[in-house]
Formats: sequence, C-alpha cells, structure tokens
Amino acid sequence: MEDQALVELAYAMLEKSYCPYSHFPVGAALLCADGSVFTGCNVENAAYGSAICAERTALVKAVSEGHRDDFVTLAVVGNSEDYCWPCGACRQMLNEFAPHLRLLVGNRAHDVYETTLDTLLPHGFGPKNLN
Ligand code: THU
Repeated sequence: MEDQALVELAYAMLEKSYCPYSHFPVGAALLCADGSVFTGCNVENAAYGSAICAERTALVKAVSEGHRDDFVTLAVVGNSEDYCWPCGACRQMLNEFAPHLRLLVGNRAHDVYETTLDTLLPHGFGPKNLN
C-alpha cells in the first residue's frame, strides 16, 4: 500500500475517535508486510486514565489477530496544528514488537513527517533487555 493511502486511512479514523473529554481525536493505521492494515482511534473513558490511544488500539488489534513481527509502517494523525507525535506509552508498546518501525506522523493540514520509532525512542527498553 502507498504511504498516502495509509495516511488517508488514519485520517478517516478521526471520525471514529471517542474523545468527549479531551476533544482531541487521533487516528492510526498500521501496515503489515502481507499488506493487511489495522486501524485505530483513541477511545476515552469517564475514568480518564482508562483511555487508550489510537496507536495502541491499532497495535493490539494487529497482535490479537496474530501479527507480531511484520509491522512495516504506522501512520498516526491528529487535528492539531503540530504533528500528532506518539505519546511515551505508545512508543514503548510499539518498541516491544517493532523497534525500527517506520512512522508517518500527520497534522491538521495533512502535512506528513516521516521518522522512525528508534528516532523517537532511542535506547528503548525491550524484550532483549530481559536476557
Ligand atoms: N492520544 C493518542 O491517541 N495518541 C497519542 O500518541 C497521543 C495522545 C490521545 C489520548 C487522548 O484521548 C487524547 O489524545 C488527548 O491526550
């Protein structure tokens, strides 16, 4: 799948976002090597700390469907002026499965910033550190 198509899937997920508390919708789309894509949005909760981010929604959907070691690119987008940078918890969760994951990060204007997870999370703690 082309980058632009993946990014558009992430933007489409903004409409699915459940964010009555922050009013900050986030969308994500995670591409796997076999071409499958798992989308996600943030889902908030009246008990605020129980919310889950868009990236982790997409990731847990993928892992729960059998994907672990074939993640290629994650698009994550928001409606904000700045790029919607993945939060620390999402960086950590993604690092478990794909420390070198390619990231496409979008803003309200649909500008896209390309980076990698190891750029955003250098020296991340992962499974190898438990050996
Ligand atoms: N959020 C995400 O979905 N992903 C991130 O990486 C940053 C934050 C969500 C969580 C919450 O629903 C809202 O954005 C405001 O923090």
